Amino acid sequence: MRIVIVNGPNLNWLGRRQPEIYGDLGLGAINDRIRDAVSQEGEVDFFQANGEGELIDILQAQADICQGIVLNPGAYGHYSLGLADALSALPVPVIEVHLTNVFAREEYRQRHVTAGACQGYICGLGWQGYILAVQALLDYDEEGD
Ligand code: DQA
Repeated sequence: MRIVIVNGPNLNWLGRRQPEIYGDLGLGAINDRIRDAVSQEGEVDFFQANGEGELIDILQAQADICQGIVLNPGAYGHYSLGLADALSALPVPVIEVHLTNVFAREEYRQRHVTAGACQGYICGLGWQGYILAVQALLDYDEEGD
């Protein structure tokens, strides 16, 4: 079982980007925690890109060589129809994750265009949300549905 974790724009700056909102942990440290938590159950690989097209390229390239994807689309989740279209065509389940509870934030974060193209959605649980998403995908595959 190979699960891929894809982070979108500005998430490479976790740790130095508005730590009062996103916390002190950098993306590398978060990825280490995810790997530690799930490595007994499956293989995980990590990608990050700031560009919308780069993210679509990553999703399409990984689609046939993994069993599930965890995606934090960052701000693109609120408006990228290109990303939503790419997600709709993927043959593997995708769980969208946001570190923060976007429903409790600004008005412009209340629109969710990629979430409807995903199997599941987690927000507001910080970096633990990624681990829960990976575990859900591992169970999902085991159950064969
Ligand atoms: C985010 C939430 C988005 O609204 C924001 O644009 C981000 C981070 C999160 O993980 O909480 O870049 O995706």
